[in-house]
Amino acid sequence: MAIHKIGVVGSGQMGSGIAQVSVQSGYEVYMTDAAQQFIDRGLSRITESWNTMLAKGKISEADLQTYQAHLHTTMDMNDFRDCDIVIEAIIENKDEKVAIFKKLDAILQPEALLLSNTSSIAITELAAVTQRTAKVAGLHFFNPVPVMKLVEIVRALETSDETVETLNAFAASLGKTSIIAKDTAGFIVNFLLIPYLIAAVRMYENGTATMEDIDAAMKLGTGYPMGPFTLMDYVGLDTTLFAAEVIYNDFPDPAYAPPALLKRMVAAGKLGKKSGKGFYDYSK
Ligand code: CAA
Repeated sequence: MAIHKIGVVGSGQMGSGIAQVSVQSGYEVYMTDAAQQFIDRGLSRITESWNTMLAKGKISEADLQTYQAHLHTTMDMNDFRDCDIVIEAIIENKDEKVAIFKKLDAILQPEALLLSNTSSIAITELAAVTQRTAKVAGLHFFNPVPVMKLVEIVRALETSDETVETLNAFAASLGKTSIIAKDTAGFIVNFLLIPYLIAAVRMYENGTATMEDIDAAMKLGTGYPMGPFTLMDYVGLDTTLFAAEVIYNDFPDPAYAPPALLKRMVAAGKLGKKSGKGFYDYSK
């Protein structure tokens, strides 16, 4: 299947990152969100990243102009009608995702692929509200999208081999390595990562060590680029909690139970870097 036009629903960290790498890989990209202010914020994130790349000599002025010409924003999802691939990357809210999948299923051409970047919601449940179940899959990117080399392709129950093949080729065209996961809670990465993150919270709650020492342990002792608390702040405590709840729901092992501290911090609005405060303070 030839791919030319990509639609991205959601212009937050993930959506804007997906739009950015798609444009850089030569695709015509349409990005939308629920409000113009979100689109503007996503656009400025992308522009900032391109300006940094320009300043570092990684792209030329001509590249920048080409990228800008190929990135379109819209508040009207009807503008996605000719997209070959649409990737939904909104917040982890199942009702909102279902509404978007229903709407896009009616707008897109029958051969278009409809994908979700969700890290937690069952792809099969999203596919079930469409008439194109063979063409629905998960395409899970990692934060920061322009830097992280992995994409998880998630096969829902009825995703076709042809769809998976197209997605493998698409991921490669973005310069990413793809892996294939079944549609189970957490897929591959989060099923391994989230229990590790919440074990760190529990260790801190128990008074075994300070956050700083736990972070230093994993960063310097095992070569992880970020310790668990820094990483949770980076990914978002709300995203971490949601992923933990989904995994615990399907696998109710006490080791996977979301720790009380994580729940309280999310309730208090301490969501990490994006809210200015998480385990660490970013307000300055
Ligand atoms: N956009 C574009 N480029 C970025 C970037 C961004 N948001 N953030 C960093 N970079 C680039 C920098 O420009 C820099 O490029 P150069 O080497 O060309 O100068 C390079 O990445 C390294 O960045 P820094 O020097 O600023 O900092 P660093 O070396 O500490 O790397 C990091 C930053 C890449 C974020 C690194 O700390 C890291 O890999 N952290 C772990 C991230 C991780 O685990 N992500 C997965 C989270 S889980 C997830 O996303 C799934 C989920 O469902 C929850």
